[in-house]
Amino acid sequence: MKLVHKLGYAEFNAANLQRELGYYTDIMGATVVETGGDGTHFLSLGLDHHNIALKSAAAPSLGVTGFQLSPGVELKAFESRLTEHGIRHTRLTDARPGIPALVEIPEIAGHRLQFYAEMAMPAPGFARTGIVPNRLGHIALMSPEGAKLVKFFTDVLGFHATDWFEDVATFLTCNYDHHVLNIIAAPVTKMHHIAFEMRGSAHQYQASDALARAELPILWGPSRHTAGHNYASYHYDHEGFLVELYADMDIFVPGQDYFEPRPWHEQMPQRPRVWPLSQLNAWRTEFAADLARA
Ligand SMILES: [Fe+2]
Repeated sequence: MKLVHKLGYAEFNAANLQRELGYYTDIMGATVVETGGDGTHFLSLGLDHHNIALKSAAAPSLGVTGFQLSPGVELKAFESRLTEHGIRHTRLTDARPGIPALVEIPEIAGHRLQFYAEMAMPAPGFARTGIVPNRLGHIALMSPEGAKLVKFFTDVLGFHATDWFEDVATFLTCNYDHHVLNIIAAPVTKMHHIAFEMRGSAHQYQASDALARAELPILWGPSRHTAGHNYASYHYDHEGFLVELYADMDIFVPGQDYFEPRPWHEQMPQRPRVWPLSQLNAWRTEFAADLARA
C-alpha cells in the first residue's frame, strides 16, 4: 500500500542563516510564511505553509526531510505500520508550525524523517521575482546504509523503484514523478542534492541567468539525464548544498510499469532498468567532489 503522497519539505541547518535566507528568498523566490521563536524561517514556494525551513547552526547540514501521507492515510495507521516493521518513531504535536501532528523517525540509516497528514495552506502565492520554481520535486540522500533506506521506503512505505545506477543509486517514487527520492549508497551520511521543478526550458534559461547574476556558477547542465530524462542543471547554494533545477522529468505509469513515451527515450517502452555507472553523467564529478569534501 502506498502510504506517502509527496515530498513536503526539507529543513536545513545553515552556518550563515541570513545569507541562506537571501538565497531562498531573493534568488529562488520562496516566501517566508513564519519565523519561529528560535529564529527558524519557514518558507513556501506558493501554497503550502512551508517547503523549506532554515535553521541557524554551527555547520550546514540537512536537518529533517518531511513527507505528506497519501489522502486517507491517518497517522495512527501509519504508526501501526512502523511498529509492525520495528521502526522506532515518535508522535509529535505542534512540533512544526503549520503541521498540527506528525510522526518522526528520529534516525533511519542516519537520516531524520517526518511524516504528516495535514499541512496548513496559507497560499502566499508565487513570488514575482527570483527563479520561482513550480514546486519541490525530489531529494537525494546518501548513506552507508543505502540498501536499508531503500528497503524502508519500498517495503514499508510502498514507494516504487523506477531506475538504478548499478548498486549505487536507486530512484524511488510515490506518485507520477520518475523520482521523489534518490537513495545513494555512499560512505557518508548527508544530502546529495535537492531538486526544484522549472516550468520548462525557457524557465531553465531564465534561472541560469538569475544564477549568473547571483554569481552562483552552474556546475553541470542544463542537459538531459538518462535515468528520469529530466532536463537539469546543478549549482551550489550559499551553504554549499547542491541544488538541481529541472524540467521534463519522466512520468511513471504505475499499472503499466513504464514511463509515458517521449522522443528522447532510449527504449520503447521505457521501463525501470539498471543503468551503467558510466552514465551517471551529471554526478560523476559532483559525486566525487562531495565525497572528497565529506
Ligand atoms: Fe536529482
